[in-house]
Amino acid sequence: MSFVIAVAGKGGTGKTTLASLLISLLTKRNQGAVLGIDADPNSNLAEALGLKVKEDIGGIVDSVAKNLAGIPLGMTKEAYIDFRIQTSILEEKGFDILTMGRPEGPGCYCYVNNLLRGLIKKLADDYSYIVIDNEAGFEHLSRRTMRRADRLLLVSDASEAGLRAAKRISDLVKELEFDIKEISLVLNRTNEILLKDKLKDLGLGIFSVIAEDEELLNLSRQGKPITCLDHSSKAYLEVNKLLDIILK
Ligand SMILES: Nc1ncnc2c1ncn2[C@@H]1O[C@H](COP(=O)(O)OP(=O)(O)O)[C@@H](O)[C@H]1O
Ligand SMILES: [Mg+2]
Repeated sequence: MSFVIAVAGKGGTGKTTLASLLISLLTKRNQGAVLGIDADPNSNLAEALGLKVKEDIGGIVDSVAKNLAGIPLGMTKEAYIDFRIQTSILEEKGFDILTMGRPEGPGCYCYVNNLLRGLIKKLADDYSYIVIDNEAGFEHLSRRTMRRADRLLLVSDASEAGLRAAKRISDLVKELEFDIKEISLVLNRTNEILLKDKLKDLGLGIFSVIAEDEELLNLSRQGKPITCLDHSSKAYLEVNKLLDIILK
């Protein structure tokens, strides 16, 4: 069974940055196949890794629904969608990327979630590692796309809103009784231990602190992928350390 790392938190806190860096580092370690799943409808995980999405799950569901006559004879709609999704997986440089996207048809969102959940279960044996970049909100958690994870990383910046979102996700995950072995808070773009009291109030411990990173800023300014991040950059070193601990 694959080792699943899920990343969640408020929008703009650094989820995709962390997820893409984890995928890049896991690939470099060369210890088995890596699958990245972009479960955020505002997809940009593939892009962060320098890839271009051809078709996402939402788009596939829409296009099949619009052209039912295009389903091969003797194949159910579900089987055909499943086939289309499997062939849409981007296979690149040692890791694969699956992008969920957002279907346009009404009432399709749950359908896509269910598809994705089934697919994750099926793919779990094909990959050693799965990294899930989750949607910013936490509504999707109650739709239960992600039920199992070995580690849930909650990303927050130093803002009150970011920390509260992390806390809410942590509470919700426990309430819904997901099978999550460990939940850890990752503070991003900060080096303040000034947050100690606030974190204590929220009942959150710090697992990792990623400082504001000039090199990351430069990359995103130049539109370069995370795979170009310098190995001596703060974010690279910290996430590498974080990975050591998680995989131990
Ligand atoms: N530690 C950091 N230092 C500097 N810039 C960062 C850092 N973490 C994230 N960023 C930048 O912040 C922006 C938002 O990050 P992103 O990972 O897309 O957030 P999210 O996926 O949570 O919405 C990106 O432009 C990213 O390059
Ligand atoms: Mg993101």
